Amino acid sequence: MLVDQFGREVSGVRVSLTDRCNFDCVYCHNEGLGDTRGPMEPRDDEMTTDDVVRFLEVAAEFDVDAVKFTGGEPMLREDLEEIVRRTPDGMETSLTTNGTYLPGRAPDLVDAGLDRVNVSQDALDQEAFAEVTKSGEYEAVIEGVEAALSAGLDPVKLNMVVFEGTAGYVPEMVDHVAENDGLQLQLIEYMPELAGRPEWAVDIQRVHDWLEDQADHVEQREMHDRRRYWVGGRPEDESGGMVEIVDPVGNADFCANCHRVRVTHEGYLKGCLNRNDDLRSMGEMTKAEIREAFRETVHERVPYYGEYMIKDDDGDWTINEEYIGV
Ligand code: 5AD
Ligand code: SF4
Repeated sequence: MLVDQFGREVSGVRVSLTDRCNFDCVYCHNEGLGDTRGPMEPRDDEMTTDDVVRFLEVAAEFDVDAVKFTGGEPMLREDLEEIVRRTPDGMETSLTTNGTYLPGRAPDLVDAGLDRVNVSQDALDQEAFAEVTKSGEYEAVIEGVEAALSAGLDPVKLNMVVFEGTAGYVPEMVDHVAENDGLQLQLIEYMPELAGRPEWAVDIQRVHDWLEDQADHVEQREMHDRRRYWVGGRPEDESGGMVEIVDPVGNADFCANCHRVRVTHEGYLKGCLNRNDDLRSMGEMTKAEIREAFRETVHERVPYYGEYMIKDDDGDWTINEEYIGV
Protein backbone atom coordinates (compact mmCIF):
# COMPACT_ATOMS: atom_id res chain seq x y z
CA MET A 1 0.00 0.00 0.00
CA LEU A 2 1.22 3.51 -0.72
CA VAL A 3 1.74 5.74 2.30
CA ASP A 4 1.89 9.53 2.17
CA GLN A 5 4.42 11.69 4.01
CA PHE A 6 2.07 11.92 6.97
CA GLY A 7 1.91 8.16 7.45
CA ARG A 8 -1.53 7.78 5.94
CA GLU A 9 -1.96 4.60 3.90
CA VAL A 10 -4.11 4.95 0.82
CA SER A 11 -6.50 2.03 1.08
CA GLY A 12 -9.49 3.41 -0.78
CA VAL A 13 -10.46 5.42 -3.83
CA ARG A 14 -13.57 7.46 -4.48
CA VAL A 15 -14.37 7.75 -8.14
CA SER A 16 -16.85 10.28 -9.49
CA LEU A 17 -18.45 8.93 -12.65
CA THR A 18 -20.33 12.03 -13.75
CA ASP A 19 -21.16 15.56 -12.65
CA ARG A 20 -24.71 15.16 -13.91
CA CYS A 21 -27.55 14.70 -11.47
CA ASN A 22 -31.35 14.49 -11.62
CA PHE A 23 -31.50 16.31 -8.26
CA ASP A 24 -30.28 19.74 -7.27
CA CYS A 25 -29.70 19.44 -3.52
CA VAL A 26 -29.24 22.87 -2.02
CA TYR A 27 -26.14 21.78 -0.08
CA CYS A 28 -24.44 19.80 -2.84
CA HIS A 29 -20.68 20.17 -3.20
CA ASN A 30 -20.40 17.83 -6.17
CA GLU A 31 -17.13 16.36 -4.91
CA GLY A 32 -15.68 19.80 -4.36
CA LEU A 33 -16.13 20.93 -7.93
CA GLY A 34 -19.17 23.17 -7.60
CA ASP A 35 -22.70 22.67 -8.86
CA THR A 36 -23.92 19.55 -10.63
CA ARG A 37 -25.48 19.81 -14.06
CA GLY A 38 -28.93 18.46 -14.87
CA PRO A 39 -29.60 14.86 -15.96
CA MET A 40 -28.68 15.74 -19.54
CA GLU A 41 -26.64 13.81 -22.08
CA PRO A 42 -23.08 13.02 -21.07
CA ARG A 43 -20.35 15.29 -22.40
CA ASP A 44 -17.30 13.67 -23.83
CA ASP A 45 -15.20 14.85 -20.90
CA GLU A 46 -16.53 12.01 -18.74
CA MET A 47 -14.17 9.09 -18.26
CA THR A 48 -14.98 6.15 -20.49
CA THR A 49 -15.65 2.69 -19.10
CA ASP A 50 -12.12 1.66 -20.06
CA ASP A 51 -10.60 4.77 -18.40
CA VAL A 52 -12.31 3.90 -15.12
CA VAL A 53 -11.30 0.25 -15.26
CA ARG A 54 -7.69 1.06 -16.19
CA PHE A 55 -7.40 3.33 -13.19
CA LEU A 56 -8.94 0.73 -10.85
CA GLU A 57 -6.49 -1.90 -12.08
CA VAL A 58 -3.60 0.39 -11.17
CA ALA A 59 -5.16 1.12 -7.77
CA ALA A 60 -5.47 -2.63 -7.17
CA GLU A 61 -1.76 -3.07 -7.92
CA PHE A 62 -1.13 -0.69 -5.02
CA ASP A 63 -3.35 -2.83 -2.76
CA VAL A 64 -6.23 -0.36 -2.69
CA ASP A 65 -8.99 -2.59 -1.39
CA ALA A 66 -12.10 -0.42 -1.63
CA VAL A 67 -13.74 1.76 -4.25
CA LYS A 68 -16.73 4.02 -3.85
CA PHE A 69 -18.47 5.25 -6.98
CA THR A 70 -20.08 8.64 -6.69
CA GLY A 71 -21.15 11.61 -8.81
CA GLY A 72 -23.18 13.72 -9.45
CA GLU A 73 -25.52 10.76 -9.67
CA PRO A 74 -23.46 7.71 -10.71
CA MET A 75 -26.55 5.74 -11.77
CA LEU A 76 -27.00 8.15 -14.68
CA ARG A 77 -24.12 6.17 -16.20
CA GLU A 78 -25.62 3.38 -18.27
CA ASP A 79 -22.34 1.47 -18.05
CA LEU A 80 -22.34 1.38 -14.24
CA GLU A 81 -23.12 -2.35 -14.18
CA GLU A 82 -20.21 -2.97 -16.58
CA ILE A 83 -17.86 -0.82 -14.49
CA VAL A 84 -18.82 -2.72 -11.34
CA ARG A 85 -18.42 -6.04 -13.15
CA ARG A 86 -14.94 -5.08 -14.37
CA THR A 87 -13.79 -3.72 -10.99
CA PRO A 88 -10.80 -5.82 -9.89
CA ASP A 89 -11.70 -8.85 -7.78
CA GLY A 90 -11.28 -8.37 -4.09
CA MET A 91 -11.98 -4.65 -4.15
CA GLU A 92 -14.96 -3.84 -1.96
CA THR A 93 -17.33 -1.96 -4.22
CA SER A 94 -19.83 0.58 -3.03
CA LEU A 95 -22.01 3.29 -4.47
CA THR A 96 -23.27 6.64 -3.21
CA THR A 97 -26.53 7.41 -4.95
CA ASN A 98 -29.69 9.44 -4.55
CA GLY A 99 -31.55 6.14 -4.94
CA THR A 100 -34.03 7.04 -7.66
CA TYR A 101 -32.66 4.53 -10.16
CA LEU A 102 -32.21 1.62 -7.76
CA PRO A 103 -35.66 0.13 -8.44
CA GLY A 104 -35.06 -2.17 -11.39
CA ARG A 105 -31.27 -1.92 -11.35
CA ALA A 106 -30.31 -2.99 -7.83
CA PRO A 107 -30.37 -6.76 -8.62
CA ASP A 108 -28.14 -6.33 -11.68
CA LEU A 109 -25.68 -4.23 -9.71
CA VAL A 110 -25.49 -6.89 -7.01
CA ASP A 111 -25.05 -9.51 -9.69
CA ALA A 112 -22.19 -7.44 -11.14
CA GLY A 113 -20.48 -7.40 -7.75
CA LEU A 114 -21.75 -4.35 -5.86
CA ASP A 115 -21.25 -4.86 -2.11
CA ARG A 116 -22.75 -1.81 -0.47
CA VAL A 117 -24.82 1.28 -1.12
CA ASN A 118 -25.27 4.68 0.54
CA VAL A 119 -28.53 6.41 -0.30
CA SER A 120 -28.88 10.13 0.31
CA GLN A 121 -32.03 10.75 2.28
CA ASP A 122 -32.39 13.98 4.19
CA ALA A 123 -36.01 13.89 5.23
CA LEU A 124 -38.99 11.62 5.76
CA ASP A 125 -41.78 13.40 3.99
CA GLN A 126 -42.43 14.54 0.49
CA GLU A 127 -42.51 18.24 1.16
CA ALA A 128 -39.38 18.51 3.29
CA PHE A 129 -37.59 16.25 0.84
CA ALA A 130 -38.58 18.44 -2.12
CA GLU A 131 -37.32 21.52 -0.36
CA VAL A 132 -33.84 20.07 0.15
CA THR A 133 -33.37 18.18 -3.10
CA LYS A 134 -35.43 20.37 -5.45
CA SER A 135 -36.98 17.14 -6.62
CA GLY A 136 -40.38 15.50 -6.29
CA GLU A 137 -39.01 11.98 -6.43
CA TYR A 138 -39.37 11.11 -2.77
CA GLU A 139 -41.33 7.91 -3.51
CA ALA A 140 -38.67 6.71 -5.95
CA VAL A 141 -36.01 7.10 -3.25
CA ILE A 142 -38.06 5.13 -0.72
CA GLU A 143 -38.59 2.43 -3.35
CA GLY A 144 -34.88 2.58 -4.13
CA VAL A 145 -33.97 1.84 -0.53
CA GLU A 146 -36.44 -1.07 -0.55
CA ALA A 147 -35.00 -2.37 -3.81
CA ALA A 148 -31.47 -2.26 -2.39
CA LEU A 149 -32.55 -4.20 0.69
CA SER A 150 -34.43 -6.81 -1.38
CA ALA A 151 -31.38 -7.23 -3.61
CA GLY A 152 -29.34 -8.12 -0.54
CA LEU A 153 -27.46 -4.85 -0.04
CA ASP A 154 -28.07 -4.97 3.66
CA PRO A 155 -27.33 -2.82 5.64
CA VAL A 156 -28.22 0.24 3.54
CA LYS A 157 -26.64 3.41 4.87
CA LEU A 158 -28.78 6.52 4.63
CA ASN A 159 -26.72 9.70 4.19
CA MET A 160 -28.22 12.78 5.76
CA VAL A 161 -26.47 16.13 5.49
CA VAL A 162 -27.04 18.04 8.72
CA PHE A 163 -27.48 21.76 8.14
CA GLU A 164 -30.02 24.38 9.04
CA GLY A 165 -32.51 22.98 6.53
CA THR A 166 -32.47 19.43 7.95
CA ALA A 167 -31.32 19.62 11.59
CA GLY A 168 -34.94 19.50 12.77
CA TYR A 169 -35.45 16.15 11.01
CA VAL A 170 -32.60 14.35 12.79
CA PRO A 171 -34.81 12.82 15.54
CA GLU A 172 -37.30 11.34 13.07
CA MET A 173 -34.51 9.97 10.88
CA VAL A 174 -32.92 8.36 13.94
CA ASP A 175 -36.28 6.78 14.87
CA HIS A 176 -36.67 5.62 11.28
CA VAL A 177 -33.44 3.59 11.30
CA ALA A 178 -34.13 2.36 14.83
CA GLU A 179 -37.50 1.01 13.74
CA ASN A 180 -36.57 -0.48 10.38
CA ASP A 181 -34.28 -3.46 9.99
CA GLY A 182 -31.42 -3.17 7.56
CA LEU A 183 -31.01 0.61 7.75
CA GLN A 184 -28.18 2.63 9.22
CA LEU A 185 -27.85 6.38 9.38
CA GLN A 186 -24.83 8.49 8.57
CA LEU A 187 -25.22 12.08 9.75
CA ILE A 188 -22.86 14.19 7.67
CA GLU A 189 -21.78 17.59 8.87
CA TYR A 190 -22.54 20.20 6.24
CA MET A 191 -19.35 21.42 4.59
CA PRO A 192 -19.78 25.12 3.97
CA GLU A 193 -16.38 25.65 2.33
CA LEU A 194 -17.51 23.68 -0.67
CA ALA A 195 -21.10 24.73 -0.94
CA GLY A 196 -21.04 28.39 0.18
CA ARG A 197 -23.68 29.57 2.67
CA PRO A 198 -21.63 29.37 5.93
CA GLU A 199 -24.74 30.51 7.78
CA TRP A 200 -26.32 27.10 7.17
CA ALA A 201 -23.77 25.30 9.34
CA VAL A 202 -24.93 23.78 12.63
CA ASP A 203 -22.84 22.94 15.68
CA ILE A 204 -22.17 19.24 15.18
CA GLN A 205 -21.11 18.82 18.82
CA ARG A 206 -24.72 19.41 19.79
CA VAL A 207 -25.74 16.50 17.59
CA HIS A 208 -23.11 14.30 19.25
CA ASP A 209 -24.37 15.30 22.69
CA TRP A 210 -28.00 14.74 21.78
CA LEU A 211 -27.28 11.32 20.30
CA GLU A 212 -25.19 10.30 23.27
CA ASP A 213 -28.24 11.02 25.38
CA GLN A 214 -30.56 8.99 23.13
CA ALA A 215 -28.26 6.03 22.63
CA ASP A 216 -28.50 2.71 24.46
CA HIS A 217 -24.93 2.05 23.65
CA VAL A 218 -21.98 4.01 22.21
CA GLU A 219 -19.12 2.23 20.53
CA GLN A 220 -15.76 3.81 19.87
CA ARG A 221 -13.98 1.31 17.66
CA GLU A 222 -10.33 2.26 17.36
CA MET A 223 -8.68 5.40 18.53
CA HIS A 224 -9.77 8.27 16.26
CA ASP A 225 -12.37 6.16 14.56
CA ARG A 226 -15.93 7.31 14.25
CA ARG A 227 -18.22 6.70 17.16
CA ARG A 228 -21.22 4.52 16.60
CA TYR A 229 -24.44 5.16 18.46
CA TRP A 230 -27.00 2.36 18.85
CA VAL A 231 -30.51 3.64 19.30
CA GLY A 232 -33.90 2.08 20.10
CA GLY A 233 -32.83 -1.50 20.62
CA ARG A 234 -32.32 -4.07 23.28
CA PRO A 235 -28.86 -3.48 24.74
CA GLU A 236 -28.32 -7.20 25.35
CA ASP A 237 -28.21 -8.09 21.65
CA GLU A 238 -27.19 -4.74 20.13
CA SER A 239 -30.43 -4.54 18.17
CA GLY A 240 -31.86 -1.22 17.10
CA GLY A 241 -30.46 1.32 14.69
CA MET A 242 -26.87 2.31 14.19
CA VAL A 243 -26.05 5.99 13.70
CA GLU A 244 -22.68 7.48 12.84
CA ILE A 245 -21.62 11.10 12.63
CA VAL A 246 -19.19 12.21 9.95
CA ASP A 247 -17.71 15.49 11.15
CA PRO A 248 -14.79 16.57 8.97
CA VAL A 249 -15.11 20.35 9.23
CA GLY A 250 -12.17 21.88 11.10
CA ASN A 251 -11.34 18.39 12.37
CA ALA A 252 -7.58 17.67 12.20
CA ASP A 253 -8.19 14.21 13.65
CA PHE A 254 -10.48 13.39 10.77
CA CYS A 255 -7.89 14.48 8.19
CA ALA A 256 -5.13 12.56 9.99
CA ASN A 257 -7.21 9.43 9.36
CA CYS A 258 -8.13 10.04 5.73
CA HIS A 259 -7.14 7.06 3.59
CA ARG A 260 -8.76 8.00 0.30
CA VAL A 261 -7.67 9.39 -3.03
CA ARG A 262 -10.35 10.77 -5.32
CA VAL A 263 -10.85 10.80 -9.06
CA THR A 264 -13.02 13.42 -10.73
CA HIS A 265 -15.49 12.50 -13.48
CA GLU A 266 -13.03 13.96 -15.98
CA GLY A 267 -10.32 11.58 -14.82
CA TYR A 268 -8.24 13.86 -12.64
CA LEU A 269 -6.55 12.41 -9.55
CA LYS A 270 -7.40 14.51 -6.51
CA GLY A 271 -5.62 14.08 -3.19
CA CYS A 272 -8.16 15.90 -1.05
CA LEU A 273 -11.85 16.75 -1.33
CA ASN A 274 -11.18 20.30 -0.19
CA ARG A 275 -8.47 21.11 -2.70
CA ASN A 276 -8.47 21.66 -6.42
CA ASP A 277 -4.82 22.75 -6.68
CA ASP A 278 -3.39 19.23 -6.75
CA LEU A 279 -5.29 17.80 -9.71
CA ARG A 280 -3.49 15.48 -12.13
CA SER A 281 -5.16 14.50 -15.38
CA MET A 282 -4.95 10.83 -16.32
CA GLY A 283 -6.26 11.79 -19.79
CA GLU A 284 -4.67 9.58 -22.40
CA MET A 285 -2.13 8.06 -20.04
CA THR A 286 -0.78 4.54 -20.33
CA LYS A 287 -0.99 2.30 -17.31
CA ALA A 288 2.66 2.98 -16.50
CA GLU A 289 2.01 6.71 -16.53
CA ILE A 290 -1.09 6.33 -14.35
CA ARG A 291 0.99 4.35 -11.88
CA GLU A 292 3.45 7.22 -11.70
CA ALA A 293 0.72 9.88 -11.42
CA PHE A 294 -0.94 7.91 -8.63
CA ARG A 295 2.36 7.70 -6.74
CA GLU A 296 2.86 11.45 -7.13
CA THR A 297 -0.65 12.27 -5.96
CA VAL A 298 -0.19 10.11 -2.86
CA HIS A 299 3.25 11.57 -2.22
CA GLU A 300 1.88 15.10 -2.30
CA ARG A 301 -1.26 14.64 -0.28
CA VAL A 302 -1.32 16.39 3.07
CA PRO A 303 -3.93 16.56 5.84
CA TYR A 304 -6.17 19.52 5.00
CA TYR A 305 -6.96 20.59 8.56
CA GLY A 306 -3.83 20.70 10.66
CA GLU A 307 -1.35 21.00 7.80
CA TYR A 308 -2.69 22.69 4.66
CA MET A 309 -4.88 24.83 6.91
CA ILE A 310 -3.64 25.83 10.32
CA LYS A 311 -5.18 27.77 13.18
CA ASP A 312 -4.11 31.40 13.51
CA ASP A 313 -3.85 33.29 16.80
CA ASP A 314 -7.58 34.04 16.77
CA GLY A 315 -8.38 30.35 16.40
CA ASP A 316 -9.48 30.71 12.75
CA TRP A 317 -8.29 28.27 10.09
CA THR A 318 -6.01 29.94 7.54
CA ILE A 319 -3.92 28.54 4.74
CA ASN A 320 -0.43 27.48 5.74
CA GLU A 321 1.99 29.83 3.95
CA GLU A 322 4.10 26.87 2.90
CA TYR A 323 1.37 25.88 0.46
CA ILE A 324 0.75 29.28 -1.10
CA GLY A 325 1.86 29.32 -4.71
CA VAL A 326 3.15 25.75 -4.67
N1 5AD B 1 -21.64 18.88 2.94
C1 5AD B 1 -21.64 17.61 3.39
N2 5AD B 1 -21.95 16.55 2.63
C2 5AD B 1 -22.30 16.78 1.37
N3 5AD B 1 -22.66 15.93 0.39
C3 5AD B 1 -22.90 16.65 -0.72
N4 5AD B 1 -22.72 17.96 -0.48
C4 5AD B 1 -22.34 18.07 0.82
C5 5AD B 1 -21.98 19.16 1.67
N5 5AD B 1 -21.96 20.43 1.24
C6 5AD B 1 -22.73 14.47 0.55
C7 5AD B 1 -24.13 13.95 0.68
C8 5AD B 1 -24.35 13.07 -0.46
C9 5AD B 1 -22.96 12.72 -0.88
C10 5AD B 1 -22.84 12.44 -2.34
O1 5AD B 1 -22.16 13.85 -0.57
O2 5AD B 1 -24.17 13.13 1.80
O3 5AD B 1 -25.06 11.93 -0.04
FE1 SF4 C 1 -25.64 16.44 -5.26
FE2 SF4 C 1 -26.18 13.91 -4.61
FE3 SF4 C 1 -28.06 15.77 -4.32
FE4 SF4 C 1 -27.33 14.96 -6.76
S1 SF4 C 1 -28.37 13.76 -5.18
S2 SF4 C 1 -27.64 17.08 -6.14
S3 SF4 C 1 -25.13 14.64 -6.45
S4 SF4 C 1 -26.09 15.63 -3.22
